Formats: sequence, C-alpha cells, structure tokens
Amino acid sequence: MRLLLLGGPKFLGRAVIDAALARGDEVTLFNRGETNADLYPDVERLHGDRDGGLARLRGREWDVVVDTSGYVPRVVGQSAKALADSVRRYVFVSSISVYASFGAPVTEESPRAVLEDPSTEVVEKSYGALKAACEDVVDHALPGRAIHVRAGLIVGPHDPTGRFTYWPHRVASGGDVLVPAPLDRPVQFVDARDLAGWMLVAAEAGESGAFNATGPATMRDVISACCAATGSDVRVVEVDETFLRAHEVGQWVELPLWIDSGDTEWRAMMEVDTSRAHAARLRFRPLVETVRGTLEDARPVEGAGLTPEREQQLLEAWHARG
Ligand SMILES: NC(=O)c1ccc[n+]([C@@H]2O[C@H](COP(=O)([O-])OP(=O)(O)OC[C@H]3O[C@@H](n4cnc5c(N)ncnc54)[C@H](OP(=O)(O)O)[C@@H]3O)[C@@H](O)[C@H]2O)c1
Repeated sequence: MRLLLLGGPKFLGRAVIDAALARGDEVTLFNRGETNADLYPDVERLHGDRDGGLARLRGREWDVVVDTSGYVPRVVGQSAKALADSVRRYVFVSSISVYASFGAPVTEESPRAVLEDPSTEVVEKSYGALKAACEDVVDHALPGRAIHVRAGLIVGPHDPTGRFTYWPHRVASGGDVLVPAPLDRPVQFVDARDLAGWMLVAAEAGESGAFNATGPATMRDVISACCAATGSDVRVVEVDETFLRAHEVGQWVELPLWIDSGDTEWRAMMEVDTSRAHAARLRFRPLVETVRGTLEDARPVEGAGLTPEREQQLLEAWHARG
C-alpha cells in the first residue's frame, strides 16, 4: 500500500511509520522537518507546513493518507481538498474528546461537541469541538471515504504526555502505591502500536465512518501488568474517592487513569463503546507488553502523576484517618 503520513516520527506518527514499514508499505512523510528529523533516513519525506504549504503533494497519488497532526478545521480542510482526488482513503486521527458529554457511556452516534465560536482555533480550549469540526471538513471533501479514528488515551513507547507512563514507572520504584479504589474500576487506553497497525488494516479494508478506538482494562490489570513487567512487589493501597475528593486530588492528570465516578460530566469517559472498532478488527497486545514498551521508551513527565511527596502525604493521611 502507498501511504502518506501527514505528521511525523513523534508519537502516534512514529508508530504508524513502524507499522507501515513492517507491512512492506511504501511510506511518504509530510511535515516541516523539525521533529526527530534524523529518524527514518530511508523513508521519503516531503517538507512543508500543512497550513498553506501543501504544494509538494501536488501531482502525487497514494492509496491512503493518515493524518495524525490535524487539529484545526481550516487547516485540515486544506489537506482534505488537496488530497481528495489523489488518495482513496483519508484516515483522520480524531479523539473521543469529540463527544459533548461523558455523563453516560457514548457510542459513535452520541452527540458531539459544537464550537461556540466557529472561527476559534484555540486548540487548548476547544480541542474536542475542533476535532469534531475537522471530521466534518474531511467528510465534506471525501464523502464516504474518510475514517475518523476517535482514539481514547494513547499510550506506550514515546508517549510525550506521561499520563499512563506514570503507572509503570511508579510501580517500578516500589513501596506503598496509592491506587484509586476500587481496583475493578474500568479503564480504557490504546497502545499507539495497536492503534497504528489497525488504522492501516481498516483503511486497506475500505472501512469508513467513525470508530471509537480504545481498549478495555481495569485498574487491577494495569497494576498487575506493571508488577509483572518490573518484578516489583509493591503494596497496593486502595484509596477511596471520598478521600481523594476531600484532598483535592486531580483526576486524570494528577492521578492518571482516575476519573471521579461522581463527576457527572466525565464519569463515563473510560466506558466508551468500542464494539464498532472491535468488529473492524481492532485488537490489543498483552498489557504487559505495553508496560514494557512504556518503561523502555517513555519517560515520566513533570505534572503528570502524583509527586513522591504528595503521594506520601496522602498515604499518611489515609492511614491516619479515624
Ligand atoms: N495522546 C493521546 O492520548 C491522544 C488521544 C486521542 C487522540 N490523540 C491524537 O493523536 C495524534 C497524536 O499524534 P502524534 O503525537 O504522532 O502527532 P502530533 O503531535 O499531532 O504531530 C506531530 C507531527 O506532525 C508534524 N507537524 C506538526 N505540525 C505540522 C505542520 N504545521 N505542518 C506539517 N507537519 C506538522 C510534526 O513534524 P514537524 O515538527 O517536523 O513538522 C510531527 O512529526 C493527534 O492527532 C492527537 O489529537 C492523542
């Protein structure tokens, strides 16, 4: 398959390149040549800024384009229009953040967030609604030929966000580990390598439409896989949500994979229906492999996860409660 990646060897894009090369696909990268430019010297690269600088794509054809770096509909519209007649399938990496609410489990048919100001391009403030608008411009340019990959938390090697990464490194350092109770709470995430491989399979199979792309696990599975991969024999301290709330522990980033079940806007964020992607052959490697890959190739990130001091204080307060 001839593959164009709008993006490059950062995180998910890197997994796409690896998956495509492993399949024997012909790969072309389009990016500005700034991020990890020394990687993949043998892969064809076209340089340009996707905002206004797509001229290098003219006159070329690919079977599939995978767009990992689209955040703003005005910009995504440029590539969708430019490529409409030169690719068969446009795989747009979207996000489960497109949904208007996670008060209850979502399916692909659930309402999406809408931009209050359609001209906004402030990604930090309107990430989900912007991704939803990007999906629409891709559909408009390539009706019936777009795949919207609504990814959940993407994890694994080269993850720059540090969220899932917190857990393998935390378990590796041993001792008493604060874990949000109950251990059987559902959590969802997807290894970038599984997601990347599946996007190529789905595109080649001629799939179209939106797919929630994330995988099922529990907090217990995560801790067990971390223990298995590290050989660490931590003592798990299950701390309940009332205590976490009372001590103003931040869900999702300060305590990764914890979503407060009392939060009416977010509580079902890790109970997303993924049956459509599963039916289209999205599969997951054993969790222990994801943990190993994370330990080898992803570093903890400041601000993601409890600091050792904060965790210690919380554990002391938990043990001292009446
Ligand atoms: N992390 C998560 O948990 C999560 C969850 C759901 C969805 N997602 C989605 O997953 C994707 C993340 O993929 P990623 O980390 O590999 O990609 P990314 O950070 O969005 O894109 C990085 C790549 O795109 C290129 N790029 C950036 N701006 C460009 C521009 N103006 N023109 C041309 N190239 C440009 C960069 O290369 P140069 O710097 O060399 O140009 C770099 O190689 C995003 O779409 C994100 O929204 C992430």
